[in-house]
Amino acid sequence: MTVRVLVASNNAKKLKELQQVLDDCGIDGVELVALGDVEPYPEPKEDGLTFEANALIKARAGVAATGLPCVADDSGLAIAALNGMPGVLSARWSGHAGQHGAEDTDTANNNLLLAQMADIAQRDAAFVSCCALVTPQGEEFTAEGRWEGSLLEAPKGEHGFGYDPIFQPADTPGRSSAQLTPEEKNARSHRGTALRALAPHIAALRS
Ligand code: IMP
Repeated sequence: MTVRVLVASNNAKKLKELQQVLDDCGIDGVELVALGDVEPYPEPKEDGLTFEANALIKARAGVAATGLPCVADDSGLAIAALNGMPGVLSARWSGHAGQHGAEDTDTANNNLLLAQMADIAQRDAAFVSCCALVTPQGEEFTAEGRWEGSLLEAPKGEHGFGYDPIFQPADTPGRSSAQLTPEEKNARSHRGTALRALAPHIAALRS
């Protein structure tokens, strides 16, 4: 039996990353459904103060609107020298009102962050993701992943999205996260770690 699971994200690249992680975990019989494939519903306000709170807000809204089990990710870049910011404000750091995950928004966010960090030598940074699964029966599961690294001085690389061109993972010396293949990124990334932890609960939806 195939179970349909809504992915509550407008970011097509995130949905692709989630599909790849499920494939790598050998989880078949799960059809990921994009927001564009369901009746449109109002985006919930992401007013949580933590990644977990916002992931749950998005996943609960998806279940309420569609009746499908729903997976949502909330993620961002945490800079040590900025006390963990942009953090939950990562997507809208530059105040740019563009479409969520759009390339011009990403460029504006990256440029602002590089300017703010221009004179700061302490460049420790980590990507953080919380993935939530909420079922129509009201069960809720969450898992968090971190990817340690540092902030580059200038963008490099063409892959990925968001802050990838300015993030230097600690475990890929010399290559930004935008210079990794999707497979290399998923094997290490915050979202890959969080989703692999959630995968057994997603697999259990089939029974
Ligand atoms: P969200 O879609 O509300 O969770 O916002 C996440 C934001 O954090 C994105 O718009 C990106 O700016 C950033 N972000 C999260 N994960 C990644 C990643 O894997 N690479 C680059 N940027 C990311």
